[in-house]
Amino acid sequence: MKLSQNLLNSLVEITSSSAIACYPFIGKNEKILADKAATDTMRHQLNRLNIKGKVVIGEGELDEAPMLYIGEELGNGKGPEIDIAVDPVEGTNFVAKNLPGSMSVLAIAEKGNLLNAPETYMDKIATGSHIPKGSLDIDFTVEQNIKNYCEITKKKNSEVTVCILNRPRHKKIINELNRLKVNIKFITDGDVSGAILVADEKFNVDIFMGIGGGPEGVIAAAALDVLNCNFQGRFLFSTKEDINRAKKMGIEDLNKKYEINEIVKGESIFCATGITSCELMNGILKKNDKFVTETIVTHNKPILQLVKKETYIT
Ligand code: FBP
Repeated sequence: MKLSQNLLNSLVEITSSSAIACYPFIGKNEKILADKAATDTMRHQLNRLNIKGKVVIGEGELDEAPMLYIGEELGNGKGPEIDIAVDPVEGTNFVAKNLPGSMSVLAIAEKGNLLNAPETYMDKIATGSHIPKGSLDIDFTVEQNIKNYCEITKKKNSEVTVCILNRPRHKKIINELNRLKVNIKFITDGDVSGAILVADEKFNVDIFMGIGGGPEGVIAAAALDVLNCNFQGRFLFSTKEDINRAKKMGIEDLNKKYEINEIVKGESIFCATGITSCELMNGILKKNDKFVTETIVTHNKPILQLVKKETYIT
């Protein structure tokens, strides 16, 4: 095991601290300030780790500093070489409006093992570990995917739930799901957690599909990979700028469909601390002189671990 338990513990500390940094901004309609507080805390703490880290999924590019930008080097340079994916606040609107579903997220893998994703959209599909790889595909029609899912699980269409971001761009998919009498779980933001809901039947989501952020796709894939779930993604580019940026990052085939094992390789750790509550974990609770946080973690074992932490207010 190259990514140690100590490193995992430190990452839980970091996402807990960056989530806590957002606490003053919950429900304050200040999403930029919330993101900045979480980002500054995450950077500060990552820089204290014994790693030679590099941000491969970040909050923008060098010229957009002070965000944790793609290519930024982190850590004290004394440990293993690590690729880092950061999303200090996933669901900034949720924090701003005090709605369920915001979290502070980190994923890491050894150097070269996390896909460098440009800040563009990604078409995604995810299913749980009970579905054989390749059974559903972003290039199949919605009808074919539902048919295949039902054949494998022996479910009727009306027993299947698809999670999807509620966006006008998904009108066709939504109409088709309605026609097929499939249940829809709409999310208004936060498709990292939306995708992770396929990992356990207790969340009652069979399939996640649709277009969301590319960086969020890579981060969700890091969690789903450890959980032996399925994930496929394809970047979507709408501007020349997007295309140039992707090329600069080494993406040659702009139409490539990425399988999960091309997005994340080898060992990885994923940590997400709840800022406001959702199905996956509770949000931050302030209790007298301490904060209580819940973090979901994946590493090595195909289970979604929940780590509770108490942090005294200093
Ligand atoms: P932020 O936390 O950066 O606001 O992103 C939230 C999010 O909902 C992601 O989870 C999702 O991938 C993306 O935005 C969808 O983008 P859009 O709002 O443009 O459809």
